[in-house]
Amino acid sequence: MPERPFVYSDGMLFCDGVPLSEIADRFDTPTYVYSAEAIRFAYHEIDQAFAGLPHRICYSVKANPNLSVCSILAALGAGADVTSGGELVRALRAGFPPEKIVFAGVGKSRAEIEQALTAGIGHFSVESEGELRLLSGVAADRATIAGFALRVNPDVNAHTHPYITTGLASSKFGVPIGEATRLYRLAATLPGLRAEGIGMHIGSQMEDLSPVVEATRGLAHLAAELLAQGVPLQHIDIGGGYPITYGDTQPDSPGKLTTAIEPILRPLGLLVLTAPGRRLVGAAGALLVRILYRKRNGNHAFIVADGGMNALLRPALYRAQHRLVAVRENTGEVQAQVVGPVCESADVLSFEETTPDVQPGELLAILDTGAYGFSMASEYNGRPRPAEVLVDGAAARLVRRRQSHEEMMVPEIDL
Ligand SMILES: Cc1ncc(COP(=O)(O)O)c(C=O)c1O
Repeated sequence: MPERPFVYSDGMLFCDGVPLSEIADRFDTPTYVYSAEAIRFAYHEIDQAFAGLPHRICYSVKANPNLSVCSILAALGAGADVTSGGELVRALRAGFPPEKIVFAGVGKSRAEIEQALTAGIGHFSVESEGELRLLSGVAADRATIAGFALRVNPDVNAHTHPYITTGLASSKFGVPIGEATRLYRLAATLPGLRAEGIGMHIGSQMEDLSPVVEATRGLAHLAAELLAQGVPLQHIDIGGGYPITYGDTQPDSPGKLTTAIEPILRPLGLLVLTAPGRRLVGAAGALLVRILYRKRNGNHAFIVADGGMNALLRPALYRAQHRLVAVRENTGEVQAQVVGPVCESADVLSFEETTPDVQPGELLAILDTGAYGFSMASEYNGRPRPAEVLVDGAAARLVRRRQSHEEMMVPEIDL
């Protein structure tokens, strides 16, 4: 089933039609493996959930910025939600039409604003009065008009991990909902601006999506007031945050959300934008690592893999628990902690007490790592980032090669 691309067949773990052992032999480890079919499946799932509303899915590029991954989504008709000049360049290269690109993020620089205006993006998601004034100034200097939507902070608790909760009054994101009307009025007096929309994004991995329903109600109410005041809104952006199943949980589906928000949004007659990242690519990816050692320190047993927090930061950063499965089926279980090679005690891949009983030389797959996996990887401890492989049916192709140690030093200047 494409939703679950990593399944056993003949005693070995496959990604769709390709055994992961073959990928490790061809491309070495640590390597991220993505299923193109699972990405397409996830896109269609969200697209169908929104079928009752005029809508556009803008892929949140930060979740997985690989060009080939982005190209799959661009080819399906998605737009893109980018948060930096770097993501913008990628989105354009991957084939997202500029007019379907939203520039989000709390800290756009003047250079990035200029870059986005030159590219002719759809609109800016503006997060502060200062940004609104800068956007106005830059657009006016260039004798052009910048379309914008205010990102409103609805002060709704997403009830997810504090690091990925973004819609509380205490968080840095968006403008307070009570200030939005004043800012749209201010924008109407500034040159170079056109109010095109309104938006929000309250958090990520919301297993219960009811906070989005509550926040949508507030946002839609505000949009209706603004429309009544003559603000020419064309779209309303409800953000991303759709959850995936990391363990045994049964999180809410996009369809459950849209059933609840359709009656709220339909009367507005606006184009509905949504910016999913994790749900589109998370379950489509696994990180493939090879076991280097097994060791015991006193009462503590460790399995040391060749990729750790440098390859997958989420466990160290959020204490995220991913499912770890052996590439060889039926290994049995052992009481041990799986750790990486990095010189940090936080370099843990699994917090579970038991783990597949894999021996040095064997392979482990860390599932549901297609989102915020490679994009958060680093070269810490002088380790190259993982390679990335895209599986499409029976074909496995390298979509990012591992850098050599020499290449990693290329930008440096040795005085
Ligand atoms: C503005 C914005 N939109 C969309 C997303 C995507 O979130 P998710 O991957 O949870 O769908 C994020 C994630 O941080 C975001 O900041």
